[in-house]
Amino acid sequence: MIICVPKEIRTGETRVAIVPDTVKKLTGLGIEVQIEKSAGKAAGFDDEEYRQSGAVIGKTADKIYEEADIVLKINAPEESEFSRLRQGCVIIANFRGKDSAEYLKKAAQRKVSCLALDRLPRLSKTQSMDILSSQSNLAGYEAVITAVKALNKAVPMMMTAAGTIAPAKVLVLGTGVAGLQAIATAKRLGAQVFASDVRPQMKEQAESLGARFLETGNNETFETDSGYAKETSREYQLEQQRIVAEQLKKTDIVITTALLPGKRAPILITKKMIENMPKGSVIVDLAAAEGGNTEGCEDQKTNEYAGVSIIGAGNPATGVPYSASQMFSRNLFNFLQPFYREESRSFEFDYSDELIRAVCLLKRGEML
Ligand code: NAI
Repeated sequence: MIICVPKEIRTGETRVAIVPDTVKKLTGLGIEVQIEKSAGKAAGFDDEEYRQSGAVIGKTADKIYEEADIVLKINAPEESEFSRLRQGCVIIANFRGKDSAEYLKKAAQRKVSCLALDRLPRLSKTQSMDILSSQSNLAGYEAVITAVKALNKAVPMMMTAAGTIAPAKVLVLGTGVAGLQAIATAKRLGAQVFASDVRPQMKEQAESLGARFLETGNNETFETDSGYAKETSREYQLEQQRIVAEQLKKTDIVITTALLPGKRAPILITKKMIENMPKGSVIVDLAAAEGGNTEGCEDQKTNEYAGVSIIGAGNPATGVPYSASQMFSRNLFNFLQPFYREESRSFEFDYSDELIRAVCLLKRGEML
């Protein structure tokens, strides 16, 4: 069996799906691993490291796609890559934003199977395979580091002979995986941290990391059966905006992370609210790729409005590509491992398995 890892071609992508440590594990199982030349370079893994771990290196993308039984990628293939896919191969990647019927119809012409790891159910047994969590964790960390670099103030309280500097105030909107890591990172830097979420049970988790939770006084719960947030009522939105607007007047850094599965991200910060923020404050919007939580936010751009920087950071794990690739690679291996068959020294996907059913978009060209 041949597993191939092409170089990511999406603009701004720095990560690689498989790192040398995982190559060792795969080759140890008798699998051949082919890595496209320089595939790990932007993440900090050079070809020689891969070679020493047992990978075959140096073939062109065309060649490795031609030989692949399984293609492991960070991002689902771009349409320009379709013609290279070997008929019948299995592609495992993050398909977020690439799972439209139109996209899949084109991929189906190559009779490939597409396993979308972003669709894994969030269960205890899938935690070690969860690419959304591992990348969101790093995103929360990276968002705070990005904001701190853009801020013109020091973050921790400093008591010096020249006087005292007050700690920076940080507000985290949305306390899922990324938000909780943002709270933890900002606390470690010495900030005073505030947080808000539409799922009231997040209060306890945010507080356990040292944040003060902003409560709306509205007892409605906006949570789906699968544990994700859902759209809030108009009354809740108005109440939330009032409380957030008040907090923003004294906030130096805002990290927004609020997402609604399959929908545009909710707007939580309006231009009017930004006008009342201290000049020089920074907003890092992690929901930028899904439309953003901030009015005036654009993904991969820094805009300024009323003296406030609005950083659209839809894919911030690319800022720490070494760590992000390590985690993604472990997630992939943990996903593959249960399907390993010693007799054939290969991975055999059981399409009746509940995990495969959850992630399978295409099965040998058939749309599921
Ligand atoms: P997410 O990335 O989908 O959303 C981020 C956060 O924004 C969530 O906490 C959400 O409640 C919040 N949010 C949405 N709309 C909002 C609004 N209008 N105002 C303020 N906050 C808003 O969330 P993530 O991190 O992907 O987690 C989703 C769910 O999956 C959670 O219940 C989490 O606990 C669960 N989970 C379970 C795992 C497991 O058991 N394996 C692993 C990771 C997450």
